Amino acid sequence: MLNAISNVAKQFLEKTENKPIQVISHHDTDGITSASIITKALQRLNKEFSLRIVKQLDSEVFKEMPKDKVILFLDLASNSFQYIQDLKNQVFILDHHEIISEIPGNVTIINPHLFHEEEISGAGLSYLFAKELDNQNTDLAYLAVIGMVGDMLEKNLGKIYTNILKDSKVVIKKGLTLYPATRPIDKILEYSSDIYIPNVSGSSAGVNAFLRDIGVQRINNKYKNLIELNPEETSKLITAISLQSTNIKDSSEIIGNIYLVNFFNKIEDVRQISAMINACSRLGESGTAISLCLQNKKAKAKAEEIYTHYRQNIVSALADLPHLRKIENKNYLIILAEDKIKDTIIGTIASILSNSKNYEEGKAIIAMAHNERGDKIKVSARIVGKNGKNIREVLNSVIEEVGGEVGGHKFAAGCLVEKEKEQQFIDMLQKKLEIEMVKI
Ligand code: C5P
Ligand code: C5P
Ligand code: ZN
Repeated sequence: MLNAISNVAKQFLEKTENKPIQVISHHDTDGITSASIITKALQRLNKEFSLRIVKQLDSEVFKEMPKDKVILFLDLASNSFQYIQDLKNQVFILDHHEIISEIPGNVTIINPHLFHEEEISGAGLSYLFAKELDNQNTDLAYLAVIGMVGDMLEKNLGKIYTNILKDSKVVIKKGLTLYPATRPIDKILEYSSDIYIPNVSGSSAGVNAFLRDIGVQRINNKYKNLIELNPEETSKLITAISLQSTNIKDSSEIIGNIYLVNFFNKIEDVRQISAMINACSRLGESGTAISLCLQNKKAKAKAEEIYTHYRQNIVSALADLPHLRKIENKNYLIILAEDKIKDTIIGTIASILSNSKNYEEGKAIIAMAHNERGDKIKVSARIVGKNGKNIREVLNSVIEEVGGEVGGHKFAAGCLVEKEKEQQFIDMLQKKLEIEMVKI
């Protein structure tokens, strides 16, 4: 794959010698870090370019495609060839979503699914590409690591990502994966939404008693940051959480790599940065998200403010869940949020539910919300665990009959459907989910 990236970078430089570039990227952390890497790389080359961040590629985006530019898609487009084949432009794609139709002639694409090596996120591909354009871009490797963590690909690192990590100077520590690991342990236990410990989560008195019981002491009236705990304290904490929390079944679920990056001259937890970028972008502030990635001082305070607001949005969406219409059986849960949850955060809600340990492995979680205009329905689908049917294929088979845009990965996919087709979509989806189950 590395050779192919090198060739594509050369072709890109040739094709853009006298032509401006339109960069189009995805609105999640991986897409934003991809866009940040490419923005910096193109600035360094003095290239004329403009950037657009989109929720997904639909016919609207293609209506506004400039005619005389070279197009560079990041972290999307592998499932949009039906539109791309009609463009007169030269098109470059750096993406890791599943390819669902034949690659058109005007497209030069790097997608890890074509190489059978390892999965690399959009930001990883953008980084490797930028490094081929100019070795100076090695200083952007930290963004590739943030994108990888954003797409939750950090569990199976291969050779290529191991090398990106080396370039990035990101420090890896094994430990408790609650975040931000750079904050005091009492605050993390009190506020973490990843674990639930009765009488401890949400209660500062409960947290103090919990830490006292397991022998983690305050120093000068302050608890240590999670990354400062010694191995004995870490291990006692992990045991106590596994025993007392109601959502962690096995300690392996909360042990893993902690990624620490020097960001704005401070050591920060990559998961935290990733969450902030995602929050800014999903609340419509992708410019702030990109400035944050490139460590622009003004962006930081604004991003923190947006992040707080975003968490409030998520908390209130989760609180609304019991009141929403649902269709549920053993194999799937369909949530009809209508206009009660924003289309930009419905995917996050689907992810939270599928990671919540409240559902059995292999169950399909499908969350649906209206878009802002109210003419379309955004569908976010997840499979609980890493074992089950290919949900992207299931959605695809429904969309083939109902119409709409679809794409994603085996266990996380989405689509966009006309509102008037809602009932037809749901009926067909239920049917397909049931057929799929029989096949397995
Ligand atoms: O755009 P997209 O890749 O960004 O969506 C990210 C979602 O897909 C996340 O929930 C991530 O965990 C999931 N994902 C996955 N398998 C992959 C890549 C991403 O389940 N191979
Ligand atoms: O939006 P959501 O987080 O549910 O998306 C899950 C995955 O499906 C992401 O990788 C996203 O890029 C992909 N997707 C897509 N086309 C759509 C909707 C989602 O490729 N129309
Ligand atoms: Zn991605």
